[in-house]
Amino acid sequence: MQPGQQLAEPATPKPTSGLMARIREMRSKPAGLSHILNSLLTKQSGQSWLNTGRQLGRRGLRFGRNSFTRASQFTSDELSPRAAKAARKVRYHARPENLGKDYRHFLHLTQEIAYDRAIEKLFFVPARGYIPLDKLTIDSPNRQFGHDYHPVHRLSFDWAMAQIPDPLRDFTFVDYGAGRGRALLLAAQYPFRKIVGVEFARELQDDAMMNIAQFPRSLMKCRDVDCLLMDAVDFPVPETKGVFLFNDSFDREVLETVLARTISSYRANPRRIYLVFVRPPQAEELDDLMERTVIFEPIYHSTSEKMRMQILSPDQVQIFRTLV
Ligand SMILES: C[S@@+](CC[C@H](N)C(=O)[O-])C[C@H]1O[C@@H](n2cnc3c(N)ncnc32)[C@H](O)[C@@H]1O
Repeated sequence: MQPGQQLAEPATPKPTSGLMARIREMRSKPAGLSHILNSLLTKQSGQSWLNTGRQLGRRGLRFGRNSFTRASQFTSDELSPRAAKAARKVRYHARPENLGKDYRHFLHLTQEIAYDRAIEKLFFVPARGYIPLDKLTIDSPNRQFGHDYHPVHRLSFDWAMAQIPDPLRDFTFVDYGAGRGRALLLAAQYPFRKIVGVEFARELQDDAMMNIAQFPRSLMKCRDVDCLLMDAVDFPVPETKGVFLFNDSFDREVLETVLARTISSYRANPRRIYLVFVRPPQAEELDDLMERTVIFEPIYHSTSEKMRMQILSPDQVQIFRTLV
């Protein structure tokens, strides 16, 4: 140091934000967990955490707003192909009609996981999944009117059964288009008099027979269960009271023939018959078609029941019954 040179003023610490000051202060003191904890818990430090939180929140908001403004100014040429594809996807899924479809798809997966898994565990051949008819052996001219295989959800099935007030021991259950037999074995857990499935795809009927043979007898309230390899139009309508299931089985051409057979059987022997339609492909025309049969009327459900199904079930279910 030169004689006469003045001592430099000690540097004054730069003012900092509340949090930084707090950390600096903590570091300058002998470190110790209890000291740090005490320091964090004082009212003053609580206030500084709050201020920092507010600051971060404000910055986050500003960042979000700026990013959104910048993003909305991008044209699709400026975006990378991947980002453009993602943006197109988001726009597609945001359309109201697709939101409904996505929600039903979500429900479908939820049903598979939450409700259907328990019964699937009991099958020898898994019934879940989807099989297009062109992969199957079908010896029938009605193959062109048939719908691909996919099983009924347990929730839709049980809901439909709950709508039937009659004692089931007098009824025969028929599954028109029985697939691998999931509906047959769900029906077997109700006290039906007899249960029969009609399936025209050889491989599916084989699987259904295997599932029926291996199903735990202790769970079956009806053990008279069968699945026939035949076309639905050739199946003779049982003469007892009946619950007939149509789970998205075939087109109107086949349905009309099956209905005509049912009507003439009813005229010969008037009795209670329920028709349960799950996922009816011709939902809009179904009411009209059934009205023209003259012998069937729709079952009306309470608003709460309808809402429950709309919220929980991916499938539409419509039930009709004969007038007697
Ligand atoms: C959507 S699946 C329903 C499977 C089953 N009912 C269930 O709920 O698990 C429709 C089934 O109907 C069968 N099918 C379509 N047309 C048919 C017909 N004319 N005669 C018999 N079965 C038919 C298909 O092979 C397919 O297995």
